Parts: sequence; C-alpha cells; structure tokens
Amino acid sequence: MDNQTQFKQQIKTIYRFLLVVFAVVGLITVAGIYLIVDPTLSAFRKVEKESTYVTILEEEDEDLVKNGIHVRTGFIDAEGLMVVVNNCTNCHSAKLVMQNRMNQERWIATIRWMQETQNLWDLGGNEEIIVNYLVTNYPPKKKGRRAVLTNIEWYELQD
Ligand code: HEC
Repeated sequence: MDNQTQFKQQIKTIYRFLLVVFAVVGLITVAGIYLIVDPTLSAFRKVEKESTYVTILEEEDEDLVKNGIHVRTGFIDAEGLMVVVNNCTNCHSAKLVMQNRMNQERWIATIRWMQETQNLWDLGGNEEIIVNYLVTNYPPKKKGRRAVLTNIEWYELQD
C-alpha cells in the first residue's frame, strides 16, 4: 500500500465515523425536541382521557345490537328499529311498547291516543315505518285456543 491509498483509507474511516456521530447526535436532538414538546410521551399512550374518543365509543355502544336485540332498549333489530327507538322511548320504557302486542289498527289508535293526550308529536312518514315495525315484530299473540283433536278413539258409553 502506498501512502496515498493509506491516506484515502484513513479519510474513509474518519468519514464513516463522522457519519455515525452525526446520526447519533441527530437522533438525540430529535428525541430531545420531542421530549420538550411532549414531555409525558402522551402521544404513545392509549387514548384513555381523550373525551371525544370516549364519546364516540359510547355512541357506538348506545346502538349496539347483540343476537338480534338492540341492547339499550331490548327491541328486536329489524327494519325501522332506529325510528322506533328515536320516537318511542323518550317518554316511557321500550318495555311498555313491547308488552303491548297489537294489530295495525290498534297500534295506530294507541299512537293517536298518545298524540291527543300525551303530547306525542306528529310522526309524519315515520308513522308507517313504526307501525310496520311493531306489527311485524310484536304482532298480537295468537289466541290461546287449543288445536283440533285428531286420532281419538271414541268409546261407547255403556249403561
Ligand atoms: C310524548 C311522550 C310519548 C312518546 C314519545 C310515546 N309515548 Fe307511548 N305513552 C306515553 C304515555 C304518557 C303513556 C302512558 C304511560 C303509562 O300508562 O304509564 C304511553 C303509553 C303507551 C303504551 C301503553 C298504552 C296502553 O294502552 O297501556 C304504548 C303501547 C305506547 N305508549 C307505545 C308508544 C309507541 C309505539 C311510541 C312511538 C310511536 C310511543 N309510545 C311514544 C307517552 C309517549
């Protein structure tokens, strides 16, 4: 190796060394600046205290549906569910609605009665959606009439 190549070799080594030093110093500087801006490292923590985050979660939970049941109210998840939830659970519980199984005519009559006496608002186009939902999902229970007897062996009364 002549002197010149040796010199070049040395320069290269110094150059690499400096590169490493710069990189390390650079990283430390960035970390330092970051710590000044965010000393508690909050950006890396789970967002627990963020109120907006919690609100969104709660809103999602509010209308959670599990096994076909709207958890908050107990209503069956079906077409029109949210219209019913939004219009029929403000004054009384959803239970009161579910307990009352009626046909279309009687549901409409009940709504009219609430409108006339309980300040229920005009439901507009939602009335049809609500009544359809109720009639479909909470129809009147079948009358407790027994099935016709079949396959009976009648016997003659003897005297
Ligand atoms: C503005 C308030 C209000 C709203 C909204 C409301 N109701 Fe009512 N509803 C009442 C009141 C008050 C009663 C009587 C409660 C009681 O008897 O304890 C009642 C009673 C009922 C009953 C029982 C009726 C009976 O004969 O016992 C049913 C069923 C009912 N509501 C269904 C609904 C449905 C379906 C909706 C949505 C369209 C609805 N309610 C929305 C005020 C309201």
